[in-house]
Amino acid sequence: MSLKVSKYAASIAALLMLSAIANGQKPESEPFGKTKDGTAVEVYTLKSSKGLVAKIMTRGATLTELHLPDKDGTIADCILGWDDVAGYESEDNQYFGCTTGRVCNRIAKGKFTLDGKEYTLAINNDLNHLHGGVEKSLDKVVWTAKTWGGEKASGVTFTYKSPDGEEGYPGNLTVSVTYSVPRDKNNLSISYKATTDQATPVNLTNHAYFNLSGAGSKTVLNHALLVNAESYTPNDETLIPTGKIESVEGTDLDFRKFTRIAKRVKNFDEKPEIGYDHNFVLKPKPEGKKMVFAAALRDAKSGRQMRIMTSEPGIQFYSGNFLKGQVGKDGKTYAHRSALCLETQHFPDSINHENFPTTVLKPGEEFTSQSVYQFSTFVPRKNAGKAKGKKSESKNDEK
Ligand code: GAL
Repeated sequence: MSLKVSKYAASIAALLMLSAIANGQKPESEPFGKTKDGTAVEVYTLKSSKGLVAKIMTRGATLTELHLPDKDGTIADCILGWDDVAGYESEDNQYFGCTTGRVCNRIAKGKFTLDGKEYTLAINNDLNHLHGGVEKSLDKVVWTAKTWGGEKASGVTFTYKSPDGEEGYPGNLTVSVTYSVPRDKNNLSISYKATTDQATPVNLTNHAYFNLSGAGSKTVLNHALLVNAESYTPNDETLIPTGKIESVEGTDLDFRKFTRIAKRVKNFDEKPEIGYDHNFVLKPKPEGKKMVFAAALRDAKSGRQMRIMTSEPGIQFYSGNFLKGQVGKDGKTYAHRSALCLETQHFPDSINHENFPTTVLKPGEEFTSQSVYQFSTFVPRKNAGKAKGKKSESKNDEK
């Protein structure tokens, strides 16, 4: 009798589990600590069945961990971050993994004019305004979170209401960012929405620092990068776009074929950017498509690779030039150029350049943006012959 009962209980449990999978489980959350002012911070975990695990916390709607399998199935966390909120609040945090805004990247001299009114923002980067400000930029505030789980994917939506005048920006802005992971693919989708009650500039991105060999690996210079861009926006000496759009042809910014970052980065050592820190103008979206292929990154050591699709017109490639050996998660050191950012975005300082796609959001409109980071593995060339059943990548290979 008792055997019968336990068999019955086991099949009920199995059925419940199957129906949970079919209905989709919501991501789980756990406490991540408190901010300096005592606000509780939660961290949410998203998983695919193929090994991807992403963690995102409510402070700054920040991607804190991204675990990915390598070519042999070994999992490593491939983004920079901190073990606790204090790390994220410290001066050593250079926007690791955060949602960046209200306007990402730079606004020249922190000034812009909209509908005849001049606005002044904080100057926090040389002469300019960087990444939304000082105290209440989107990376520093605590967002509210709502989870969901469907049959094919699960996710968490973070929402923040930024009051009129916060960090000097006009309008009450309601902004949300949704992180989601499909069940059966190692993809991470990040999508943004925003509405306002006054015209205001909005430009949102995620500021994850990637090292596909695993965060804390010595360098990212052996990664090969491809950027789907024919042109870029040159900078002045304070990293503000001059307003020109120039061809990458014949320049060190030509990444139309996979190229090791090490190959040309030294040519920027004496330039104002001190490395790669440039906005690329992506090719237009194919007709009828919401997103365009923006960039791909490959690490031959681990066999991990990433492709980025985006609805945005630009992408900032920043080669971790200001990383200074700070000690992050698990006591790992983040050396100069040991990680890189690929930030999908509208062009920097667009609000002061009429020839750039507009970043102005008006009342009654909805700002939307989506980027998908697709992770997979490849068999590096020198091992290609040894592995069975795995395709070796040869098309568009490194120069
Ligand atoms: C990047 C920016 C760099 C640097 C970095 C943060 O988005 O392009 O110039 O400011 O953020 O350290």
